[in-house]
Amino acid sequence: MYIGGKSAVEIADEFGTPVYVTDEQRVRENYRRIYGAFSRFMDTRVHYACKANTNLAILSILREEGAGIDAVSIGEVMSCLKAGFTPDRIMYTGVNVSDAELKAVSELGVMINLDSACEMERLARIAPCSDVSFRITPGVGSGHSAKVTTGNKGAKFGIPLDQVIDTYARAKDLGFNIKGIHAHIGSGGQVVEPFMDMMEVLIELVNELKGLGIDLEFIDMGGGIGVPYRPQEEEMDVEELASNLTSMIEEETDVKTIMLEPGRYIVCDSTVLLTRVNDLKDTGVKRYVGVDAGFNTLVRPTMYDSYHHVALANRMGKACTSKYDVVGPICESGDYLAHDRVLPDPQVGDLVAVYDAGAYGFSMSSRYNSRPLCAEVLVNDGKAELIREAETMEDVWRHQIVPERLR
Ligand code: LLP
Repeated sequence: MYIGGKSAVEIADEFGTPVYVTDEQRVRENYRRIYGAFSRFMDTRVHYACKANTNLAILSILREEGAGIDAVSIGEVMSCLKAGFTPDRIMYTGVNVSDAELKAVSELGVMINLDSACEMERLARIAPCSDVSFRITPGVGSGHSAKVTTGNKGAKFGIPLDQVIDTYARAKDLGFNIKGIHAHIGSGGQVVEPFMDMMEVLIELVNELKGLGIDLEFIDMGGGIGVPYRPQEEEMDVEELASNLTSMIEEETDVKTIMLEPGRYIVCDSTVLLTRVNDLKDTGVKRYVGVDAGFNTLVRPTMYDSYHHVALANRMGKACTSKYDVVGPICESGDYLAHDRVLPDPQVGDLVAVYDAGAYGFSMSSRYNSRPLCAEVLVNDGKAELIREAETMEDVWRHQIVPERLR
């Protein structure tokens, strides 16, 4: 197996396992494909949803490409500024955030996308007259799991539909500089239709607001463009998505700019997780391949029952023998990476590649079971570079304090 022109086996030998390995060119290609699909039709701003992967090197690649940023926390905003983004390229969409965080974000010069009328009143006291937009709850949800479906009526996110007009009117009275409208229906949807349903709702609101003298600069369709995780799965047709949504906006409104916030689409398939086989077990009922990455390293299978394709990186193309569960070193039965996969006679020391691990992989990893966070490597032009050192136990202990009397 080669990643960005470099052998996976060599990468694992050089940097150790588990390790996330990202192909730089793939990140660039994904960004260009999605930006190209929309910008053919109208003025487009692609704001990378950096929650998917906030490594500073990945952020720097996207800064070079000209992306903007969708940030959800002051930490994400600060990481993006550190990676060289200017504040005007970042939009902050927090949920249930404190006054202190709102103040810090607005002092950094980053536009705030408000999630509730209550948050608006709080911001009015902190940063009156600032640029804002609003996240609305479109009443349309979509996603690979109920846990990541966000746009449905009653969701914790956004301004409920029947309160949107009043909230914008109040924002105008408060003196805010109102820039746009935003919705995010959920993450990992595979079909175009819910995005169009959401856009219909947004367009109706945009026109109603225009009637009240509130003209918007942009419509932000959120993120959520799904990618195929299974070998036979089809890609969403982003050309069709772009053409449909932009023509709706152009035909039915005066809004000139579309914004979108893809996270998964940009980084997901750029990265594999390499993990070493430590142990093998045949229970008579099930065969287990025990590897050194568990849900501490990649939580998506455990958390959402997500499918990630796996292969033995050092036995590519070999005939498969039996079905195996690929499981990690975490002491919970829910700790697995893959269920019932045919693999070519795995041996201790083999290298398992877990595909499509670039989105919500490292960024959701933890130190559970006192296992330090793993390394990240970037490959470009056949060369591999470390972009995050693996932690040591010193890192695990760093912020812990044992009171004197217990020493
Ligand atoms: N915009 C907003 C406001 C969001 O909340 C999200 C994701 C995105 C954009 C980017 O969505 P994407 O294009 O990546 O689907 N941890 C889960 C996904 C959680 C997504 C949360 N919000 C997973 O591993 O599937």
